[in-house]
Amino acid sequence: MLVPIEPEEIIDLPFVENQCWRMLVEGATNRKSAMHQAVISTAKGNLAFMRTVVLRRVDADTRKIYLHTDIRSKKIEDIERNGHLSWLVYDQVLRSQIRLSGKAIVHHLDDLCVEQWSKTGHHSRRYYMTDLPPTTEIEQPSTGLNQSLTAFDYTLQESEAGFQHFIVVETCIEWMEWYYTHSKGNRRAGFTYANGILSRATWLMP
Ligand SMILES: Cc1cc2nc3c(=O)[nH]c(=O)nc-3n(C[C@H](O)[C@H](O)[C@H](O)COP(=O)(O)O)c2cc1C
Repeated sequence: MLVPIEPEEIIDLPFVENQCWRMLVEGATNRKSAMHQAVISTAKGNLAFMRTVVLRRVDADTRKIYLHTDIRSKKIEDIERNGHLSWLVYDQVLRSQIRLSGKAIVHHLDDLCVEQWSKTGHHSRRYYMTDLPPTTEIEQPSTGLNQSLTAFDYTLQESEAGFQHFIVVETCIEWMEWYYTHSKGNRRAGFTYANGILSRATWLMP
């Protein structure tokens, strides 16, 4: 369990960078963490499109973060077009907002997908088993799940049918910014990475 950073502790950039990655790892591994949910943004022309996703995995050593989605979802069109993804997480208790961005790699039917798919629960697999793709217009308000998916009336073996639609999106972080709020004054720091290695760190005017 992470505790909020105290203003007196904010003395050097390596400490802050390390704390940011610790918060992200906690976000990926602790369902109760506020950073378990993230907002990601893609660009379509001049417009940004944002949506909430679950932060599924963080590899702090290589500075990579991951989400799961359906290959039929609209966001994939944007990601494949410009190869870039921006992320936002915020934890009020930890007083920290972290913004990140970097190159996005879409994984489909590869070893990483097999590994991540094996961590998904029986319940969540049903969203990858629908006949209609996400965003299809429908006549009635509906969950989009048929009777057997609604009733969990399918075996784990049958849930493998969803794997064809399951993708893992990896973001190789190239830019990260931390914003800290405190009644004694806010703080801000920026970090850039080249090939997963820290290339620049600086304090910023909050
Ligand atoms: C709390 C929450 C968590 C969500 N997690 C995911 C997720 O992990 N992956 C995902 O594709 N969509 C997730 N969604 C749905 C997305 O926000 C979004 O509506 C959907 O993916 C369609 O986006 P698109 O049309 O831009 O592809 C989540 C929504 C909420 C409210």
